[in-house]
This record gives sequence, structure tokens and C-alpha cells, in this order.
Amino acid sequence: MTDACPAAATDPIRWGILATGKIAHSFAADLMLVPGARLAAVGSRRAASAEEFAAAYDRHGPVRAHGSYEDLVADPEVDVVYIASPHGLHLEHARLALEAGKHVLCEKALTLNAAEAEEMVAIARANDRFLMEAMWTACHPVVRKLQQGLREGRFGTPRLMHAELGFVVSVDASDRMFDPTLGASALLDMGIYPLTFAHLLFGEAESLTAQANVRETEVGSFDVDIVMTGKYAGGVLATMNSSMSSWSSRAAAIATDRGRIELADFHHPTRAVFIEYAAGSTNDSSAVAPVVDIVGDEPVIGRGYGNEAAEVGRCLRAGLRESPLVPWAQTIALLRAMDSIRETVGARYAGE
Ligand SMILES: NC(=O)c1ccc[n+]([C@@H]2O[C@H](COP(=O)([O-])OP(=O)(O)OC[C@H]3O[C@@H](n4cnc5c(N)ncnc54)[C@H](OP(=O)(O)O)[C@@H]3O)[C@@H](O)[C@H]2O)c1
Repeated sequence: MTDACPAAATDPIRWGILATGKIAHSFAADLMLVPGARLAAVGSRRAASAEEFAAAYDRHGPVRAHGSYEDLVADPEVDVVYIASPHGLHLEHARLALEAGKHVLCEKALTLNAAEAEEMVAIARANDRFLMEAMWTACHPVVRKLQQGLREGRFGTPRLMHAELGFVVSVDASDRMFDPTLGASALLDMGIYPLTFAHLLFGEAESLTAQANVRETEVGSFDVDIVMTGKYAGGVLATMNSSMSSWSSRAAAIATDRGRIELADFHHPTRAVFIEYAAGSTNDSSAVAPVVDIVGDEPVIGRGYGNEAAEVGRCLRAGLRESPLVPWAQTIALLRAMDSIRETVGARYAGE
């Protein structure tokens, strides 16, 4: 594949992975399953870490190990760089890759705030490169099927939604999860999912409110637990929460005037069903019609990270610079919403 032209359908998309932490491993494992994709290289701050990572994912051919991010983005055998560093560093690392002429898939949250996201998009535009936030939920076949079904009114008119994602974070105080300079925030790490999910189903929120437990540090403050409410077009109301100090169900439910949609692991649904209530029934479970599974049009690739990698490949082959599933305007609108939520609850990164 050349950097300016769409690849021939038969050329593999050659991926480089920047950083070797937890999500880099999850992504690489799924990338192995994506037709037409090849892991070509990995870059780490430590050569040994890059070598270890490369050796773990070389089943489709050799993976070049680079002991710096600069060397990774300079690798002529790489078409697209997947950025898997903490979000406080995404702008710096995306700039490195885009200015080196690479396309970029960048982990969520794309950046710490909307101003940084606008800057990243401007860099992508100036360098005429593809850029997408790695919002795998938007690429998940079941979520896409649910979006389509709601649009077509197949489940009735949605009225209420609830979604939650949280887990007890038990890591050192120095970990990115507790370091505001690296983007610590229950909202940016987990709350971004219920917020994005609502946006994908109902469009941009008309209004949002929030309550949070905020932790102050010498280098900024961040939300540890957060509860949000949103109002969407047509009067759909949503409650959304996330937490770094408690275990959530990871479930979502959408109540409509015909029944309920329930999702397990809503941000990469492992099960989604529509439970239709019989017309004229009371809220008695015996009146519920047979449960209908909501199944995607395409298979889920791996845990679902494969579907976002496949979407990047599809876009690159079509010569696109942004994905219609995760357009820049959507990512920026959600970051703007998160900026205002953090302001409401008094969580501020240094310099904000
Ligand atoms: N999509 C998802 O499901 C999902 C899940 C979890 C996390 N994420 C996102 O992915 C990103 C990374 O999360 P993670 O859980 O993989 O984090 P992690 O395990 O802490 O790994 C982050 C990696 O970034 C690199 N890095 C560069 N500078 C760093 C610094 N100053 N401090 C710490 N690490 C630094 C390191 O790789 P090297 O040492 O190799 O350079 C490190 O291993 C975050 O933006 C997060 O929101 C997404």
C-alpha cells in the first residue's frame, strides 16, 4: 500500500503498534484475526519490551521491534499506527505518527479535552492522513444492528436508557489510572462508553448533568466515581455512570413504549435482547412476549477490537480520511461534553 493511495484490495494493511501496555496486547491479539491486516512493527520506550511484544505476535510473519516511538513511525513498512499510550500523551504521539506520514488509529479518550482533539484533527488534515478514535463500541456489529433497529422503529419509541461501566482499580498510585497528567478520570476511561453509547443511539445530548467524587492532587484533579444524566432528542432520558472504586454490572437497558432492550457488556455486547411486552399488559413478567436476540450482520472479530481494525482497513482501501462510524465531529462533540461535565464536577487537568 502506498501512503497516498488506497491499497489494492489484496494488499495487507501494515500495522504498527505504539506502546506495549495492556490494551496493546488485547488489540494485537484481535488484529491476528483480521483478514487483510498484518502486524508489521511495534514500538516501545524500551527495546526489550518491543522485542518481547513482537515475539508474541509474529504468527503471520516477522514483526519489527523498535526501541523508540520515533523509530516506529519512521518505519517504511508501516501504513497505520495504533496509539496505545495513556490519553495524556495521545496528542504528542499522534502528532509524531501523522507528521511522519502515517495513518492513525488512536485509543480513547482521543485526547484530554476538545481543544487537543481539534488540534489532532488539524494535524491529520494538514498531513492528509486518516485519523480515528479507537471507539470499538461504534464498530461493534451488535451495536450497529441496534442503532439500525432503533432508527427503523423496530423496538418501539425509546424513552429511557441506563448504562454503567466501572471496576475497582487496584494499581499503584503512580499508575496512569491515578495520574492526572496521563489523563486519570473515571469519565475519560470508562464513562466515555455510556456517554458514547447514548450518543450513538440517540444523537448529541441536548443537556447533561453530573455528580462526582473528585480527587485532588498536586498536578490536577480527577473524578473517581461519576453519575451523569442526559436528555436527548424526542425526550429520551439517560442515566450513565462509571466508577474506579466499585464494581458495576457493565450492562445497559433501553426502555421503549413496546418493551425493553437489555445488553450485557454493552460497550462490546456479549448478549443483546429485545423483550417485548404484550399490548395492554401490566408490568407483570408473565405478560412478556418471547425474547428476541439482536444479532449483528457481521461476525464479531475476537473481542471486537478486530472490527475496529477492519473498519480502518475498509476506510484506507476506500481512500477515506475519517470513518463514518467514528467521525471526527462525533469524537469532538463527546470530548466537549466531557469537558463540560468535568467542569461541572470540578475536575481539572493542569493548564485547564
Ligand atoms: N479500548 C479499550 O477497551 C481500552 C481498554 C483499556 C485502555 N484503553 C485506552 O488505552 C490507553 C492505554 O491504556 P492501557 O490500559 O493499555 O495502559 P497501560 O497498560 O498503562 O499501558 C500504557 C503504555 O503506554 C506507554 N507509555 C508511554 N509513556 C508512558 C508513561 N509516561 N507512563 C505510562 N505509560 C507510558 C507504555 O508502553 P511502552 O513502555 O511500551 O512504551 C505503557 O505500557 C488509554 O488511553 C486507555 O484509555 C482502551
